This record gives sequence, C-alpha cells and structure tokens, in this order.
Amino acid sequence: MEQDNISQDVTSQLLFTNQVAETLDGIVEKLEPISVHVLVDANTASFVLPRLQAESEVIRNAQIIQTGGAGDMHKNLNTLSGIWQKLSDDGATRRSLLINVGGGVITDMGAFAAATFKRGIPFVNIPTTLLGAVDASVGGKTGINFNTLKNEVGLFADAEVVIISTTFFRTLSSQEMLSGYAEMLKHAMLTSREMTDRLLRYDVTTYEPDSLLKLLKESVNVKCGYVKEDPNDLGKRQSLNLGHTFGHAFEELALERRSPISHGYAVAFGMVCALVLSHMKEGFPSERLHTYADYVRHHYGVFAIRCNDYDRLLQFMAHDKKNAAADGLTFTLLKDEGKPVTGINVSADDVKAALDIYCDLLM
Ligand code: GLY
Repeated sequence: MEQDNISQDVTSQLLFTNQVAETLDGIVEKLEPISVHVLVDANTASFVLPRLQAESEVIRNAQIIQTGGAGDMHKNLNTLSGIWQKLSDDGATRRSLLINVGGGVITDMGAFAAATFKRGIPFVNIPTTLLGAVDASVGGKTGINFNTLKNEVGLFADAEVVIISTTFFRTLSSQEMLSGYAEMLKHAMLTSREMTDRLLRYDVTTYEPDSLLKLLKESVNVKCGYVKEDPNDLGKRQSLNLGHTFGHAFEELALERRSPISHGYAVAFGMVCALVLSHMKEGFPSERLHTYADYVRHHYGVFAIRCNDYDRLLQFMAHDKKNAAADGLTFTLLKDEGKPVTGINVSADDVKAALDIYCDLLM
C-alpha cells in the first residue's frame, strides 16, 4: 500500500505507511536533529527494535533508551526520571529528537519526557499496538500516572510526526487486536451506521495489513476531526469518551479484584452500558444496541458483575476526572450512530438500571 498522510492544522502530521524504516529515515533527514534517541520498553526492545535497526539507518545510529519493564505500572515518575536521566547522560539538547517506539504507555510517557526535557525537544511517535495507533499516539495527550491515578500529570504536546503502520501488529494476539478494535468501533459509532456495520463485518483477528491500514486511517481520521475542533478536550472532544466512564470503572473494579482487564475490552463492555443509557435517555435504537451487544458477547465475552458491585462502580465513576460535574454523573451518549451528545447528566438509579440491562444482555 502506498504511503498516505493526513496533515492536521493543530496536531502532528500523520503518516500511514507499511514502509516504516524508509519513511522514518526520510523524515529525520528533513528534521536534521543533532542527535537521535529511541525510547523502547522490554517488548519493543525484543520484537521491534532489531527489525528497525536492520532496516533504518537512523535507528541503527541512534542512542537507545530502554525502560525497566512494559505495562501501565511502569508509566510513573520513576521511569520518567530514568528517561530524562538517559537523555541527559547521552548529551541530548533542544535540537535532539526522541523517537517513541511502543504502545500507549511508551508514546504517552516518551512524549511527556520530550515535551518537558530542556523545556521541550521534538519527538516522533511510532505506535506498535493497534490500541496505541488508533488512540494514544494521536491527539497530543501526554503524561504519566501519579498517586495511583491514571494520566494524572501531563500536558498537551504534539509529535512532529506519527508514523502509523500495521506491520507491527503481526505478532499481536487476537486479544490485543480486539482491544484496539474497540476504540475503532467507538469511532465508527460516533460517525455512522454504515461505518459501524462495515467494522462489525471485518475480522480484525485475521491479520491483513493493507486492508487494516485503510480502516485504521479512516478511524484515526475520525479522532483527528474531534481533536482539531477541541484540542484541549473541553467540549466536543469529550465525544471520544463514549463508553469510557463505564469502561474505566470496569477496569478499576477488575484491578481491585486483582484480575485486570485490558483498556480496550473495558471500553467494549463500557460501550454496551453507554448504548443502554443512550437508549433510555436519548432514544438510541434498540435493535442497534442488540446488534452491538451480540457482537461484544461473541468476540469479547463479558466482564461479570453482580448487583453488589454497583455502588463500587458508581464510586469509581464519580472519581473519573473526565466526569467531574457538581451535580452528579455526566456521560457521552448517542442519539443515534453519528449523533453523539456530551455532558448528559444521569442519576445513580439510571446507571444501576443500565448495569442491570448490561447483565441481561451479556451474562
Ligand atoms: N482518548 C481520547 C482522547 O484522546 O481525547
């Protein structure tokens, strides 16, 4: 597939290509940094870096910064400090370039490290997971977790370029692909019934890099539309929160049970609840709710909850920073596919009713 790009007014240039090394070498030649530093975690150090080093002159000659481990628990001040330290030890200056190669943890944290080191050095994101490609690496949100709160400290900063490729997904499990696909389904529902149906028919677990790259580009484009309109996430961009208030609460409950679930799975389940609420409050069509719930049950299974979890879930929702309203819980809902509404106030009783229906639909 040919390289294709979207240049946005307010965020990074996005390049969609399956010729990553060639594309990266061309970009770095134009940026002319005085040194190049590559951030990887344990996974990308083993599975991605050797290939990039073989194919890209830039990566071959770069200084490597490897974080201690992979996963969200490493997205903290300690790891961030290690990145700053290594940039400093390796002589990085404001004219150096940091290339973040990894999933959302690496692109969020690397971007934050770059945006703060010496008051900001340029960075490039190369997401290596579907979840990272469709969401985390795009849109300028950077940061780390702090005091057990996710993304508590951070800032908005745009990568020079985000290189999005499906070639990295060859080694991902079906679960990792489905996790990213939940965010693509969300983008489709925010857009149209036609796009949702097309995605519901597509099998993301059968690795097909070119067709997936095309769908991914369309999906990222949806996110870019919201980011362009509301880069600082104060209004319209909150549409992208569809399914996330329930989703984050499920993620936190799962953590508390010491049986974590991935962000994408939590979002897939959370969207079932959001569509139930959408039906109750905004008249979202019931047959479309059933179509989506059937898809989720078949592909994602269920996150099992019982009535005595409801109060805990409501507590998690009340603490969600995206959900801060003086007078109760607010949600992004859909009037229909392609018709999101944000900031909808919902009572605790309605949330409990939605959770009851979620259980009926999936369990
Ligand atoms: N992940 C949603 C956003 O970037 O706004």
